[in-house]
Amino acid sequence: NQPALGKANGKIILMGEHSVVYGEPAIAIPFPATHIHATITPIEGPVQLDCVYYQGDLASAPQHLENLIAVVESTLNELKQEFNNFKLTIESTIPVERGMGSSAAVAIATVRAVFNYYSVPLTDDKLLTLANISETIAHGNPSGLDAAMTSGRHPLYYIKGKPFVPFKVSLSAYLIVADTGLKGQTRDAVASIAQLNKEDTETTMDAIHGLGDLARQAKFAIESANPVTLGLVMNEAHETLSSLGVSNERLNHLVSTARTNGALGAKLTGGGRGGCMIALAADKDTAASISNALVDAGAVNTWTHQLGDESVE
Ligand code: MEV
Repeated sequence: NQPALGKANGKIILMGEHSVVYGEPAIAIPFPATHIHATITPIEGPVQLDCVYYQGDLASAPQHLENLIAVVESTLNELKQEFNNFKLTIESTIPVERGMGSSAAVAIATVRAVFNYYSVPLTDDKLLTLANISETIAHGNPSGLDAAMTSGRHPLYYIKGKPFVPFKVSLSAYLIVADTGLKGQTRDAVASIAQLNKEDTETTMDAIHGLGDLARQAKFAIESANPVTLGLVMNEAHETLSSLGVSNERLNHLVSTARTNGALGAKLTGGGRGGCMIALAADKDTAASISNALVDAGAVNTWTHQLGDESVE
């Protein structure tokens, strides 16, 4: 067997995290500025895993190692192959547990590499099914959005269980993504909202439906090329997500820093409770000053992305 490669990219949820788990729409974009390469090389003996991650390796995150082993095992099962005779190297620039889809991207890149290694064609359906096995272990109740985005080439207007709707984010605006440096476990965040829903279904479902409405308004704002409205809708979504308990002080601080430095809007992105926030800027210069202000306010990393520029090679 020859060495084989599998790739996946990070993702950013513009709108609809958490509510997407309850059937509401989400808007997300692939984020190729961060990516994962999985490489398989032949060796003798049991499978070896070798992982190089953004800011630390898998050894410091045993649950990721478990997820990775689960993906490899279920993929090998599917292919009726033994857990033997290759080394899997994962190289990732996607921050772990920061809402950028690292766990789904690891699964996607790995499934692709294993299928390539055994020269078996892989359909999108099979890829997503295998990746979502490990996402279910990692997240408990995934909407499937992360696997769809980290494997996909285009932004999506995504509704759980529905055929994918490619969505052109042709808006003249910039997105600044900032990493709080805090790990936020999506599994815990999703579970905490499920718990709130048990305790007070009416308030929780009002908030979830509210987030769904905001995602629909965001779609309309994007389609009508209106970044100002999109920013306002993002601000509202952040307040609703905070009311559901998935923001924290560091996220709120970065969100308000972005707003006072000229952002049209800002919110957490992904599971929350740490992880990343996003801010929308009307032009490149404002994006640069927001990015600098976020670093001064404690962001450990920032990325600036021109919307409409997210097709993956
Ligand atoms: C995590 O990136 C997004 C959540 O909506 C969970 C999910 O969609 O599975 C919080």
